[in-house]
Amino acid sequence: MTVLPIVTAPDPRLKIKSEPVEKITPEIQRFMDDMLETMYATGGIGLAAVQVGVHKRILVMDVDHGSSRYPDSQKGEHNPLFLINPEIVSESEEKNTYDEGCLSFPGQYAEVVRPKRVKVKYLDYNGKPQELEADELLATCVQHEIDHLNGVVFVDHISTLKRDIIMRKLKKKKKHES
Ligand code: NI
Repeated sequence: MTVLPIVTAPDPRLKIKSEPVEKITPEIQRFMDDMLETMYATGGIGLAAVQVGVHKRILVMDVDHGSSRYPDSQKGEHNPLFLINPEIVSESEEKNTYDEGCLSFPGQYAEVVRPKRVKVKYLDYNGKPQELEADELLATCVQHEIDHLNGVVFVDHISTLKRDIIMRKLKKKKKHES
């Protein structure tokens, strides 16, 4: 397996809407394995294909292994989820707030309000239709990742002022690195 380079903001590729996967081939499965490896290597709890520059509707998540930032995610187990062509079919009225981060926004965090529970249908690693009932951190994570597939990032949910501050920091950081 390979750790893939992460696309970091600002980058126009993060704004592109991803295309549905037509057929789950061994190549797609290998790519999903690489995505998972990349997510673990970078300490994330979720990763969308667009974040490694591939505009296909594929996500990997594991909120049990996860990052030091989310105490809920430190069960120390590996429970990877592969979601192909995920779609939210219902969401709760009740909301939840998490201090969200993103592998494409290194070092940047902001509180985002989202539905507390969602039901998501998707195809799994083998192309079998599945349904996920997500609550708390898993619900936030899956909504954050599905956003990525639609070219939406977590800072699109916060005030313009806060977003501008984050984008300015990231632009500066990129300038320093290049
Ligand atoms: Ni993200």
